[in-house]
Parts: sequence; C-alpha cells; structure tokens
Amino acid sequence: MDNLKNKVAIVTGASRGIGKALAFSCASLGINLTIVSRNEENLKSVAKEIKDRYKVDVLPITCDVTKLKDLENSVETTKNKFGRIDILINNAGVSSQYPFHQQPIEDFERLVFTNYLGYVRLIRLVINDMIKNRSGTIVNIISGSTLCDPLPKNFIVYSSLKLGLRAFSKALFWEVRDYGIKICSLLPGVTDTELTSKLKDITSDSSRLMTTEAIENALKFVLTVPENVCPLEIAVINQQTPWTKPVIPYSQEHPKE
Ligand SMILES: NC(=O)c1ccc[n+]([C@@H]2O[C@H](COP(=O)([O-])OP(=O)(O)OC[C@H]3O[C@@H](n4cnc5c(N)ncnc54)[C@H](OP(=O)(O)O)[C@@H]3O)[C@@H](O)[C@H]2O)c1
Repeated sequence: MDNLKNKVAIVTGASRGIGKALAFSCASLGINLTIVSRNEENLKSVAKEIKDRYKVDVLPITCDVTKLKDLENSVETTKNKFGRIDILINNAGVSSQYPFHQQPIEDFERLVFTNYLGYVRLIRLVINDMIKNRSGTIVNIISGSTLCDPLPKNFIVYSSLKLGLRAFSKALFWEVRDYGIKICSLLPGVTDTELTSKLKDITSDSSRLMTTEAIENALKFVLTVPENVCPLEIAVINQQTPWTKPVIPYSQEHPKE
C-alpha cells in the first residue's frame, strides 16, 4: 500500500456517518485528506481524531455541496495546500421518505442539489487535472436501493436520483478510462447512521442494520486493486431486509416468517 502514501483525497460529508468512516479508511492507508461538510465544529474534531490516530495531514473545509462557490473553494484550497487531488469520494447526501404525492416540492430541489449536482459538479471541478495527470480515482457513494426495480416505495425521488448517478458514473468511466481514471459506484445497504435514524419503520431488529465496516473494506479494495483494474460497481447490502414494513414492492418483498 506504499503507493497510496501521501496521495490526496477529498471526502465529502465526512463530519459523521459513512463519510467519516471512509475518511478514516483513507487515512489508515496513509492518504492525506481534505474533509468537507457544513458543520465546522464537527469537521475540526474529526480532523483532529484522524490526525492523532494516523499522523496524516487533514484539512477541514466548511462547504455546502449545494453551492457551486463552496465546491470551487474546496478544490482550490485543497490544490493550494497539497498541490494535487488524486482521489475524490463523493458521499455528502441527504435522505427523504415521502409518498410522492405528499412530498414537498422544495424537497426535490434539496435532493437534486445535494445528492446529484453536489456529486456531478465536484467531479467536473477535479476531472480535468486527473485527465492531465493521467490518473485519479472517483468513488461515488450511491445506494443499494438502486438495485430494486421498481424503486422502493416512499423513496422514489431519492432513489431515482441515485439511479441517475449510477448511470452517470458508469458512462463517465467509459469516457475517461483511457486517461487512467477509475470511477467506482459504491452501493451501501441500510446502514446505522444519523440519516437512517430519522427514517420511519426502519427496523425492529437493529442487528439487521449494517455498520460502516463493510463499506470501509470495500473502499480499501477499490483503492488497492491493480493499476490496470477498475472496480466499476460494488454493492454491499443487508443480508436480511431491515424494513419493518415492505418498502420494496411486489415479489422482492422479504418472505413472511
Ligand atoms: N445510511 C444509509 O443507510 C445509506 C444507504 C445507502 C446510501 N447512503 C448514502 O451515503 C451517504 C452518507 O449517508 P450517511 O448515512 O452517512 O448520512 P449522515 O450520517 O446523515 O451523514 C451525512 C453527511 O453529509 C453531510 N452533508 C449533508 N448535506 C450536506 C451539504 N449540503 N453540504 C455538505 N455536506 C452535507 C453531513 O454533514 P453536515 O451536516 O455537517 O453538512 C454529514 O457529514 C449519502 O449519500 C447517502 O445517500 C446511506
């Protein structure tokens, strides 16, 4: 793993949950980091935890991924400090659980600007340097819900945007593979984080929820495959469905006890 030492990664949404776990994963491989999210205090405390444990350089940047200016500032500040960006981990996201006809119209914009444009804009801001360097890895944290067809009930705007991202990521790989750039979609199942704690009817049995461990291991796999290999899509989903009520329609519902 020596070849990862002193590489530079940006991890979005690293103040807690999956993003924080992935930032620790990178640091354990010797990668220096820019971590971004909106909450400055949490970010600073995560940066200190990572530095103390792994002795890598960590730059916390307050950034709202829905704002183009904040994304531009994150990229420029990272380049000024580290001189390069080798890895981008797009993770900052929000959830939303509504029957479509009751979903507030403003919620669509929040989801599009955070979960879709937040990812695509940041990729656009880093990819030209990666093309110039003829190397780079972009990991997009998508969602296991994109494996369902039809998409889960009450999550159709969230999941259809994630499905769009998955399609975008795969297509982008075909466009940039000859520049040595890897693009990977990581599809987590229902994971025990603050995001899921706000959802209704998640689980009656918390052992069905995933921890971030398998996602951290999947990221390490992505970052350590041979140079001439790209792990295009990795799904790590719950062994047993965690939902107390069926959200996955028709024949995909978990069998009754
Ligand atoms: N948990 C799951 O079951 C699950 C399953 C599949 C996929 N995912 C995906 O995994 C990603 C992380 O989810 P999580 O469960 O770790 O959620 P979480 O615990 O709620 O953490 C979300 C992170 O994103 C940041 N964030 C949210 N909005 C932001 C914004 N506008 N600008 C900058 N940062 C923002 C938050 O930081 P601040 O509040 O400080 O900004 C926080 O660090 C999301 O993309 C989610 O869709 C999660």
